[in-house]
Amino acid sequence: MAMSNSLYLLCLLLLLPFSSISAVSIRTLEEKQTHIKLYFHEIISGPNETSFIVAGPNLTSQVFGDIVIFDSALREGPDPSSKLIGLAQGTSISTSQSDSSILSVIYFVFTHGRYNGSTIAIFGRVPASGTAERTVIEGSGLFRMARGYTISSVVNVSSDSFIIEFNFHLLHY
Ligand SMILES: *[C@@H]1O[C@H](CO)[C@@H](O)[C@H](O)[C@H]1NC(C)=O
Ligand SMILES: *[C@@H]1O[C@H](CO)[C@@H](O)[C@H](O)[C@H]1NC(C)=O
Ligand SMILES: *[C@@H]1O[C@H](CO)[C@@H](O)[C@H](O)[C@H]1NC(C)=O
Ligand SMILES: *[C@@H]1O[C@H](CO)[C@@H](O)[C@H](O)[C@H]1NC(C)=O
Repeated sequence: MAMSNSLYLLCLLLLLPFSSISAVSIRTLEEKQTHIKLYFHEIISGPNETSFIVAGPNLTSQVFGDIVIFDSALREGPDPSSKLIGLAQGTSISTSQSDSSILSVIYFVFTHGRYNGSTIAIFGRVPASGTAERTVIEGSGLFRMARGYTISSVVNVSSDSFIIEFNFHLLHY
């Protein structure tokens, strides 16, 4: 008798947390869809350089193996004087022996505006030319549990900078 009572209690204790968790999740988890367009401003030379080659095999014929670290500005528009929204902090690695395509990991850290304090992380391959599609791997703050993808393309390139338009397509809670 005492045994079956404690068994009953055990079952109750095991089941209760699960039933309360699922009740909470049904009430609160509602997925949102967000589209954001922003511009990544990378400065590759001069006093305010934001991107550096930190390692590589130093091949004269190609960039294969070069590792670049950057901490570049994320702005509202393609104009370098447009409003600062955050930082794009990450790394890119030249992973192709036949062209200049790269593998990249970027954390977008929002520091101004409505997304201030939140982050979005992406991962993916950038082809040598044309449009890049990368995967959103996580987010924080407003973008907690984010998934989705980014579409990006270079909109302006000069000898000391290049500007990339980023379209974020996000699902998050
Ligand atoms: C570098 O940044 C400083 C501080 O923002 C600015 O005053 C200066 O004009 C910039 N220099 C160039 C070459 O953009
Ligand atoms: C890279 O290679 C060039 C030419 O082969 C050489 O002059 C230079 O010192 C090398 N740099 C490093 C960091 O090894
Ligand atoms: C962004 O958020 C931080 C932390 O909450 C705050 O200190 C900072 O003033 C905010 N910046 C802007 C521009 O709102
Ligand atoms: C590209 O950037 C340069 C230097 O900032 C600027 O003079 C030029 O107007 C830009 N071109 C376009 C198409 O935005």
